[in-house]
Amino acid sequence: MRILGIESSCDETGAAVYDDTEGLLSNALYSQIAMHAEYGGVVPELASRDHIKKALPLIEKALQDSGSAPEDIAAVAYTAGPGLVGALMVGAAVARSLAYAWGKPAVPVNHMEGHLLAPMLEERRPEFPFLALLVSGGHTMIIDVSAPGCYRIMGQSVDDAAGEAFDKTAKLLGLPYPGGPLLSKLAEQGVSGRFHFPRPMADSPNLDFSFSGLKTFAANTIREAGDTEQDRADIARAFEEAVTSILALKAGKALKQTRYKRLVVAGGVSANRSIRNGLQALMESLGGEVFYPRPEFCTDNGAMIAYAGMFRFKMGQRADLAVSVRPRWPLDTLEQKYDR
Ligand code: KG4
Ligand code: ZN
Repeated sequence: MRILGIESSCDETGAAVYDDTEGLLSNALYSQIAMHAEYGGVVPELASRDHIKKALPLIEKALQDSGSAPEDIAAVAYTAGPGLVGALMVGAAVARSLAYAWGKPAVPVNHMEGHLLAPMLEERRPEFPFLALLVSGGHTMIIDVSAPGCYRIMGQSVDDAAGEAFDKTAKLLGLPYPGGPLLSKLAEQGVSGRFHFPRPMADSPNLDFSFSGLKTFAANTIREAGDTEQDRADIARAFEEAVTSILALKAGKALKQTRYKRLVVAGGVSANRSIRNGLQALMESLGGEVFYPRPEFCTDNGAMIAYAGMFRFKMGQRADLAVSVRPRWPLDTLEQKYDR
């Protein structure tokens, strides 16, 4: 059985076909990053317009690459939220219309659930239950995943998301948008220990995060000592070390609370090498295991939407005929009933 998945929540258009016995059959992606870079961030109206241009060609490619005709598709899954409302509307309208024309159901998918389940596309996949650390441009969350679809948010950022902090700090360092990966590259040239960033909320009893203070600290440090390329690399290094250590600290606390031995790390920031190393070390010290999606499934893509769509389709979830999206859609409000 095959599901077509469509992603359009932010600045990537994605379409993919997932088969429940054969696995992922195709995955087509177009990133708008170059277009938004000129403006230093995502321009929502431009994003919506570009999704309109790219959605159908990408869907055609995904069908073709997977050797599927419309009659081979059991349902059309699409990102219904959270995300930019206009961008979501494009994917929802296209998915809903195609499903209607093909006489197939449409399935709304939560983008965060897509990220969370992305490691399930890999051969080495985690068993349930597990702890999930979701770190993207819009979210930073620690989630207790007791069973498929059963999510309890244990902690989240009270201000900026981890990816947002990376991007804002990168901008301060003079790097183009989205600066996260570039900051990380710069940090590789940096000397560890020259600067020391604070560890916000490290001592707080809860599992929440705060990242906006790091950006302010970075701004001050850059102003005082960020003269040469080496200075900036050292600052990038210290910033990255602070984020890594705070993520590992909170994940460690959550693992102790849940007594889980499996950690899933997902979302765009999970591509970060320093963070991966830090969490690997944490799991080794706890005698547990860490699971990641491959890098192209860390950032936004259609494959994770097709996969989560299959899961929700089998649960019997369907979109009604109205085209509707949810720019805000908390993970812990999803339907939990699931017959394993
Ligand atoms: O999950 P994602 O593609 O989009 C959202 O749903 O937000 O995440 C994008 C975020 C951006 O903030 C980007 O800078 C960050 O992930 N990112 C990274 C790295 N790769 C992507 N941040 C730090 N290091 C990286 N290697
Ligand atoms: Zn995302």
